[in-house]
Amino acid sequence: MQKPEHARDDWTIDQGWSNYTDEEHAVWDLLYDRQIEILPGRAAPEFMDGLKALDLGKGGIPDFETMSDELQSLTGWRVVAVPGLVPDEVFFDHLANRRFPAGQFIRKRNELDYLQEPDVFHDVFGHVPMLTNPVFADYMEAYGKGGLRSLNFAALKNLAALYWYTVEFGLIRTDEGLRIYGAGIVSSKTESIFALEDPSPNRIGFGLERLMQTDYRIDDFQQTYFVIDSYDQLFRATVDTDFAPLYKAMGGRFEHKPQDVIASDDIIHRGTQAYAKAGGRFAKAD
Ligand code: PHE
Ligand code: FE
Repeated sequence: MQKPEHARDDWTIDQGWSNYTDEEHAVWDLLYDRQIEILPGRAAPEFMDGLKALDLGKGGIPDFETMSDELQSLTGWRVVAVPGLVPDEVFFDHLANRRFPAGQFIRKRNELDYLQEPDVFHDVFGHVPMLTNPVFADYMEAYGKGGLRSLNFAALKNLAALYWYTVEFGLIRTDEGLRIYGAGIVSSKTESIFALEDPSPNRIGFGLERLMQTDYRIDDFQQTYFVIDSYDQLFRATVDTDFAPLYKAMGGRFEHKPQDVIASDDIIHRGTQAYAKAGGRFAKAD
């Protein structure tokens, strides 16, 4: 990966907020309104609280500086702009220092549902609200520190699966039923509904080693979602475990396919996998 010339040593760039066009702000508003229509009763209360605390619905793409001042007063985190995907050690270093690296560009109106690289809507709307929650904020910092440590082991894939099945595609149990908190879900209209309501995917209780050994889909809806009982459970399970022996045993390999259900699973819903069997979104689109 080559650092673009305009990026600083830590790969950050200026957000260039004043350069966004009216159309770009309008695309944010459109995406925001679509999610707000469907998220109440589906998104975790902590996510909804975060949206409100940061005033992300005030209209237009948020200015990272203003938003970061507010976020910093809550949990000490800031949001920094980056040109796109950054090298692993750069990403981990930002998280370890309570900086969330976010894409600065926004998708086009004619590609609202398709994204090759995370844009400002995914990164800010999807990820930043949960960073207002003190326990989740601590988890993200710990993950960054763990990531830096993991670079000494050939098991990055196993750590990446943890991020995938929690930060990006996690579900949580509440007294009112399952709720979504993963950024990849809450920033997608179709997946917000699919993850909770479709009979196709498995929904399985969180198990650290189980999910670190499970492969995942990067180009389609998940075949399995993992469900935590609380952010505290997630924090304790990851922070109180020394990953070194796990990395050695797992060795960057996945033992389970995305759709597998295994004997030790706490099965909340056994998926029909009908959606995957039908060929997924590419088959359904026409
Ligand atoms: N406890 C992990 C280790 O020993 C670090 C970690 C914490 C990883 C939280 C992910 C999340 O490396
Ligand atoms: Fe993301």
